Amino acid sequence: MNIVPKPLSIALSGGETLFSSATKIVSPIDVIVKELNFIDYEKAEENTAVFVIGETEYDYEIVIDGNIRVLSKTNEGLFHGAMTLKQLVFDGYFEGVATLKNCHIQDKPRFEYRSFMLDIVRHFFDKRTIIKLIDILSLVKINNLHLHLSDNQGYRLESEVFPELNEKANERKSTRGDGIPVGGYLTKADVKEIVAYAEERFVNVVPEIDLPGHTLFMLVAKPETGCTGEQFQLAERYGIDNRILCAGNEDNYDVIAKLIAEIAEMFPSKYFHIGGDEVPKTQWQKCEKCNELMLKEGFENYEQLQGYFTNRVINILKKHDKTPIVWNEALYSNMLDDSAVCQYWADGKGANAVRNALKNGRKMFVSKNFPYYLDYPHGINNLKRVYKFEPLSCFDGQGEENILGVESPLWTEWVADEEKLHHQAFPRAIAVAETGWTEKDNKNYKDFVERLYNVLGILEAYEIGYEHPTKANPNIFKALGQGLKFLFAMLDLGDRKAVKNAIDAGKARKTK
Ligand code: ACM
Ligand code: ZN
Repeated sequence: MNIVPKPLSIALSGGETLFSSATKIVSPIDVIVKELNFIDYEKAEENTAVFVIGETEYDYEIVIDGNIRVLSKTNEGLFHGAMTLKQLVFDGYFEGVATLKNCHIQDKPRFEYRSFMLDIVRHFFDKRTIIKLIDILSLVKINNLHLHLSDNQGYRLESEVFPELNEKANERKSTRGDGIPVGGYLTKADVKEIVAYAEERFVNVVPEIDLPGHTLFMLVAKPETGCTGEQFQLAERYGIDNRILCAGNEDNYDVIAKLIAEIAEMFPSKYFHIGGDEVPKTQWQKCEKCNELMLKEGFENYEQLQGYFTNRVINILKKHDKTPIVWNEALYSNMLDDSAVCQYWADGKGANAVRNALKNGRKMFVSKNFPYYLDYPHGINNLKRVYKFEPLSCFDGQGEENILGVESPLWTEWVADEEKLHHQAFPRAIAVAETGWTEKDNKNYKDFVERLYNVLGILEAYEIGYEHPTKANPNIFKALGQGLKFLFAMLDLGDRKAVKNAIDAGKARKTK
């Protein structure tokens, strides 16, 4: 049966059941009726599709035997059952009537945290695009949508507390000299609509304000929050920027508290992402206030200053009853508050820190850039690689119970429109959805691709594009071409300063 993610067990019982406009749907939640009415039905045999709350050891069970019965302890489980049924209906649909095989399905997820991230800063994507994404994420039982809302290139939420964020940190005039302005932000009404639409489909929307790095947006709007107080413009290039929030300026914690209070009210999610990745310490090293604080606290290195900063932000979040999420660099201070969940995205110097933290009880979810970053071309992270990746293979077997799940992030430096977004996201995010839900021994790539065509048909019905599975696994020559093109774009050879830095670094190495 063509269901993605693959359910735990399906027992066929012989015979068929029709689903049509003569099927009476009875459900405690209206969204199920709406979701199942996604195509036009003709009348056939009268029967019922009943969704009931009751005792079961599974997330949901479905019995199809002339009528349809979906059972779960929770409305969320009933919704998951409805998404399975929706796929069965689409698969069996012909001329207005769906023919379903009689069966008994028992299903439950492997991981509790199944997530997709969209960066709406590097390029802005509006309410309509986000809501369309939620249709597909919920169809494959992804239950978190992480929105990256602030960065060096802008701030993407309406702010009444700091209107200067919208006035000064919205539109960048150009990107790498192209002369094309990029701006836009979600209004409070937009967020309300997105959150309500997601909530109805049991998708939790997690906001991310990346701190203390990736914060040029704040220095542009409020220059006093930086170490130098200079007035900057939004970044018109990508990459890591050393202009970050001053950790030694006490007023900054007040600014952050006010901003977090505003955002926490907009997003009911228990999780709140505070970033913490890629924090160059060069400005902190030169800053009087930052160094005074270092001395006062007795810190021996600037990682500890980041740890201090992050823990203060976490204390603010605690007042709002929020669980923090941080990128894995935030672990390197060795003093991160225990309540923070770590999003593991990159190896390197932090690999041991990540493994140790997991062993010592740190909750974590896996977003390893190879292969889960969906901005990377298919030539680097191809569909097969994404599907076959086993999240627990990153670790040494200790602390595995602390892995909450998986997330595939889609950064948008090179994703300027919705069509490209869909091709980067799908079907790779659907492969990650199966890894998040289906037990690893129950997964098989060939079988996945066969089942996938049914879901891709639903994407077409929703007018959502995707990369065809054959193109999503390019051959070695195409892969090499895509990889090199992406690498050159990332290296940003048009940035004279970056090129000069690289040459200087090379010279310095030679003279040593
Ligand atoms: C990241 O990719 N900098 C989290
Ligand atoms: Zn400073």
